[in-house]
Amino acid sequence: MAEIEKRQSAWQRSRRSLVNPIALTCLLLLGLGCSGDLAARLEARDQPNPIPYGAQSLTRGRALFLEHCERCHGPRGLGDGPDAATLEGGVGNLAERGAALREGSIAYKIAHGQERMPAFRDSLAQDEIWDLTNYVRSLAPSS
Ligand code: HEC
Repeated sequence: MAEIEKRQSAWQRSRRSLVNPIALTCLLLLGLGCSGDLAARLEARDQPNPIPYGAQSLTRGRALFLEHCERCHGPRGLGDGPDAATLEGGVGNLAERGAALREGSIAYKIAHGQERMPAFRDSLAQDEIWDLTNYVRSLAPSS
């Protein structure tokens, strides 16, 4: 009886020590495969916007957009801001691209920036980023 228990616990021990390296390797591979922050991006994509879409948020969003974003994206997000010409590759049409993105992704891109776009997570509050997200949505050609 004691012999069986001993064997069982030895098996459990070996199973534990087998599982951990496998789990660690998976995490490592996942981390490497995620080329930086893919996991964070995917998680951010599904974040709901807590700021209701409406006149108040759009007024705040518009003011923030003119202050921080217009120089590249242009007043209506067409990519015709004064600094757009200085960026290699120019600036695309945010009015169209914003319409294809989920709100969580728009907010993530504003917060973390992209290759040629600066990050705003240190200079804007999260609520301001959501107001901007609403404003970016309002630029869509159909609205
Ligand atoms: C220095 C110039 C610059 C500034 C300032 C800037 N952006 Fe951008 N932004 C870009 C560039 C370049 C891209 C890459 C895609 C493109 O060419 O439009 C981009 C991409 C984006 C995208 C993602 C579009 C996509 O299809 O992936 C969003 C959303 C966005 N900007 C919003 C903003 C907002 C909101 C602000 C202000 C808080 C801002 N940007 C400020 C240059 C800028």
